Amino acid sequence: MKETLQKLVESFGPVGYEDEVRAVIRQEIEGVADQISVNKLGSLIAVKQGSGRGKKIMLVAHMDEIGLIVTHIDARGFARVTQLGTVYPIYHIGGRVRFASGQLGVIGVDRREDNNKPPALDQLYIDVGAKDKPSCPVQVGDVACFHRSMEAVGNRLIAKSMDDRLGCAMLIETLRRLRTTPHEVYFVFSTQEEMTSAGARTAAYSIEPDVALAIDVTDTGDTPRALPKAVELGKGPAIKLQDSGMIVDPRVKEWMVKRAREARIPYQLEILRGGTTDAQAIQISRDGIPTGSLSVPCRYTHSPSEMVDMADVENGVKLLLALVKKPIVLSDE
Ligand code: CO
Ligand code: ZN
Repeated sequence: MKETLQKLVESFGPVGYEDEVRAVIRQEIEGVADQISVNKLGSLIAVKQGSGRGKKIMLVAHMDEIGLIVTHIDARGFARVTQLGTVYPIYHIGGRVRFASGQLGVIGVDRREDNNKPPALDQLYIDVGAKDKPSCPVQVGDVACFHRSMEAVGNRLIAKSMDDRLGCAMLIETLRRLRTTPHEVYFVFSTQEEMTSAGARTAAYSIEPDVALAIDVTDTGDTPRALPKAVELGKGPAIKLQDSGMIVDPRVKEWMVKRAREARIPYQLEILRGGTTDAQAIQISRDGIPTGSLSVPCRYTHSPSEMVDMADVENGVKLLLALVKKPIVLSDE
């Protein structure tokens, strides 16, 4: 699973430009899924056909990552950018980016009046090594991702775009290990979560699942002077209760907690104050879909060094398997 994850996090896939990631995933699941298709907005949908006595479950993880898009090239060949998804400039000074062409660049920052204040995004520029504007190898509209390799520190892994290639890797692993299920399970690798959730929104409409879960990362409250939050790295996957985009259906929460307890899988309960996931868009598809979310604790989200604990990842896959292998009864049925 680590190898698959490394391929995924080191791939290029800013919001709306997920082709490379989709190709990697397709390769990994070819022959494992009963059916694979790509919808009109680029989401990859793999189906595992069950025995026909269960429900239609949709599991989703997003392929896209945050990135930058060139808005302007100045006379000396420096590129100015704006964000694709939420980018925090403070994480990126001195970092590197990679364009779709493979072109690398360094992220520099303008001299500012007050160097103690974090810069704004329009004070950053990309130096691609050009001498002037005519020789600049990138153009307005070119898209870049942050450039980092995955590294291990003990049982913890650091990489760019753990958000949400980790979710993609967990779905692939779940699909590989899933032998029998009563359900029809849809594994959706969605596009554009970081801006509009357009990929998951449209997939949910066409699949029309009975129940859906988004698998994504969430911030932790266990770093120095962090915003207090009852989620820690290494204490198990988190069952979401609420974030700034949704309240999780309590029947879905109960089902998830019950299966975690039965299987003796450690878990945490998550309330995220800032941010949301594809689950928010799926929940309000059609006339409403009971939707929850399985979150993997992650430090430094939306930085180029997002850190996760492999024990949480393994327990997350175990919980997904426990959820999709057994019958689903939502409490008022
Ligand atoms: Co994100
Ligand atoms: Zn995410």
